Amino acid sequence: MAHVLAIANQKGGVAKTTSVSSLGAALSELGRRVLLVDLDPQACLTFSLGLDPDTLELSVHDVLLGRLSAGIVITKTSDGMDLLPATIELAGCEAVLLSRTGREHALRLALAEVIDTYDFVLIDCPPSLGVLTINGLTAADEVIVPLQCETLSHRGVGQLLDTVHDVQRLTNPRLGVRGVLPTLFDGRMAHCRAVLSDVSARYDIAVLAPPIARSVRFAEAPGTGRSILSTARRSKGAEAYRAHARVIAEVRGEAAAHAGSAGVGVEPTRIGSATTTGRSVVTGPLGAGPLGEAAIEEAGREAATLEAVAREPARGEPVPVGADGARV
Ligand SMILES: Nc1ncnc2c1ncn2[C@@H]1O[C@H](COP(=O)(O)OP(=O)(O)OP(=O)(O)O)[C@@H](O)[C@H]1O
Ligand SMILES: [Mg+2]
Repeated sequence: MAHVLAIANQKGGVAKTTSVSSLGAALSELGRRVLLVDLDPQACLTFSLGLDPDTLELSVHDVLLGRLSAGIVITKTSDGMDLLPATIELAGCEAVLLSRTGREHALRLALAEVIDTYDFVLIDCPPSLGVLTINGLTAADEVIVPLQCETLSHRGVGQLLDTVHDVQRLTNPRLGVRGVLPTLFDGRMAHCRAVLSDVSARYDIAVLAPPIARSVRFAEAPGTGRSILSTARRSKGAEAYRAHARVIAEVRGEAAAHAGSAGVGVEPTRIGSATTTGRSVVTGPLGAGPLGEAAIEEAGREAATLEAVAREPARGEPVPVGADGARV
């Protein structure tokens, strides 16, 4: 049975979709069978993996309303993952679901038929705490919270964790919190490090390392219909997501060493936590220990290095890639 991860934060533009496509591609590189679910009416995940949401006839909307089975709607992507795509119709679906009994369970029930076909299911939640995100959390084993380190970020985390507690209490007691994933990270800014430290201490939640550095490579990928793992194979951003995927892959109890992810990936750790295993360090309802200052400094230096490399050759210019996707 697949391990189901929801990627959620009601704040917009924090790299939820980017994290779903990048982690999905990285898990797929590791030989895992991966299904991505686009649960956002903006359909950015669908678009960024090469499908045109405006011309799609079948989508997750039909599945949530019980009109079609998931297996009929799921499609293949060029990066190796399968995708349950979305269209703008999903916005209307939200309203219809609201009037239905058991609405929170629509996705979980719809996925039941295909769950044994995959090792991992990654759900891209919309930037809200509405019925679609609740469906994502109800279907999930764990939630990852991408976090852009800026002022007031912590407020969003608190609200999301309140929702997670509600879901644990009412619809999905097995839901765990894998942790906060720092995205769009600029390690040279003391402010970034302070926000991470504050969030970790305030909510007793694990902060996952390595942080994902800000890089123009990420903005370039969606227009090509491929993830950054294909468009900038050896970039530090791709390697950082591979590092997270290697840890996540261990959840299924199989060694990921055979993977085709050669390279200089940063070994992932859980900042301020005692473990580097794939299991979530959930003590009580949420999180690991407080984020150590030394670990934050280290993460900052690491992210600054990642960013410096990712900026090559020239910021904002198209990056030439060879047939294998490597930078040339
Ligand atoms: N590490 C990064 N460095 C630079 N740009 C990034 C990075 N990660 C994501 N981006 C860019 O930031 C923008 C927002 O990312 P993304 O769409 O993944 O966020 P989101 O949380 O899914 O947004 P929404 O809440 O609207 O669904 C995109 O243009 C994406 O390409
Ligand atoms: Mg998104």
